[in-house]
Amino acid sequence: MTADHTASLREIADLQEFYMGAAANAHALRTDSAYRETLAEEFNFLTAENELKFGNLCPEPKVYNFGPADELVFFAKANFMHIRGHTLVWHHQNPPWLIEGDFNRNQALELLHEHIFTTMGHFHEEIEVWDVVNEPIEADGSLRDSFWMHTIGPDYIEYAFRWAHEADPSARLFLNDYSAEGINSKSNAIYNTAKELLALNVPIHGVGMQMHIAINGTEKLAKPPDTNEMYENMKRLGDLGLEIHITEMDVAIQNATGSLEDRLRQQADVYERILGTALRVPQFKACILWGVADRYSWIPGFTGHPDEPLIFDQYYQPKPAYESIHRTLEAMLKTSSVS
Ligand code: XIL
Repeated sequence: MTADHTASLREIADLQEFYMGAAANAHALRTDSAYRETLAEEFNFLTAENELKFGNLCPEPKVYNFGPADELVFFAKANFMHIRGHTLVWHHQNPPWLIEGDFNRNQALELLHEHIFTTMGHFHEEIEVWDVVNEPIEADGSLRDSFWMHTIGPDYIEYAFRWAHEADPSARLFLNDYSAEGINSKSNAIYNTAKELLALNVPIHGVGMQMHIAINGTEKLAKPPDTNEMYENMKRLGDLGLEIHITEMDVAIQNATGSLEDRLRQQADVYERILGTALRVPQFKACILWGVADRYSWIPGFTGHPDEPLIFDQYYQPKPAYESIHRTLEAMLKTSSVS
């Protein structure tokens, strides 16, 4: 995998205390040795793609199945990788008993408290970073109407962060969302929410930008953000004292024009532009890809079209996007060693 290079991505990232990560799934980890090798060699940060979501962890009230998530955590620890917990509170992938149940505000608060303490308690001090609340904001900047929003009200966000901090005071706590990379109604609302939470002394440590994008956009995926806007947005969040992570990056090529080679070149340019710009923001600390290799990417299922959005191909061969990320991380190393 790294034959052409003296250093893997993670080796360069390690030198900078930078997180270069990938979302992993327990099934691939169990069954595919090339997947395991690439993950451990190239990445120093691991996110669970689905295993920590409420619906998978807790299919019946009070019955928690930590098995698959434990496998991911065990692998990460064995390979000296850091771990991101994705995600405690979301509108999606919740257990049917929760969303179909008839709960009042107090009962919902109790369920939220129990879920946060049970989950973070199980992984106490093992999972360093948590996406506490995922996708709480709509495109127009309003709060999304989720189970938590309509049973508890807007303060569910505050409760979630406070309880997450109580459950594991060493964990760094994030608000995570998509299509809020540039400057728009949604990213303005995220900025304002983060600012208000900080003013209330709510323990929030960072903002995650998912970065599911497509070179030319698709019905379901945004175009790459304008890099000047992205820089401004990251900078204003950083100025609040927040850490910034790119949490779920993939760059779909399905609507791009040109030969496959051309499209992979354009994809590599997008990865390079985004990462290169983000690295100019001192509070930017992590770039996590939503998958290890094209083989198991969620994008074909999500969009209904074949795609190759990641940096390793179906056979774990590095793509032009791998080269461009490698180059960008190496340039960061050079810049910081001369300054
Ligand atoms: C996706 C997974 O990749 C899929 O396997 C699953 O079927 C649906 O969820 N934003 C998120 C992630 O925060 O949790 C989603 O992951 C992708 C969009």
